[in-house]
Amino acid sequence: MSAGTSTKSKSQSRSKTVDFEPKILAFCCNWCSYAGADLAGVSRFQYNPHARIIRVMCSGRIDLGLILNAFDKGADGVLVSGCHPGDCHYITGNEKAQVTMELAGELIQTLGLEPERLKLQWISAAEGQKFAESIDEFVETIKNLGESGAKAQAQGG
Ligand code: FES
Repeated sequence: MSAGTSTKSKSQSRSKTVDFEPKILAFCCNWCSYAGADLAGVSRFQYNPHARIIRVMCSGRIDLGLILNAFDKGADGVLVSGCHPGDCHYITGNEKAQVTMELAGELIQTLGLEPERLKLQWISAAEGQKFAESIDEFVETIKNLGESGAKAQAQGG
């Protein structure tokens, strides 16, 4: 076994320990998904605390730069959530978000990241339970993947 392989396997095993606390960013549109998150809170639906919610006016606001910057700053996964198709308050913002997420999925693969580190989810203001379940599922996916390592790569490590 070469020294490089040994270092990699140590890194992989470290990143997938049970102690791994993933850093998840969840961009939620103001009109539906953020209200869904709010409903989850007032309904006292329990969900994993590792997601940090960032309110944006529309999922269409999310661009490739924001997603790449999130990984560059240490995020292990990025969730984008918006209104269901046909319900976007800016008419086609969620359609734009879907295209952006498809491009972002391809882009992060070229950077060595798994496409599963990105998730697009439609959540309405009435779907607090769905919001909580989506966060839990995504955190579990990211825990299984381990740390993204994108920040270390960006710093030359
Ligand atoms: S306003 Fe919710 S996705 Fe556009």
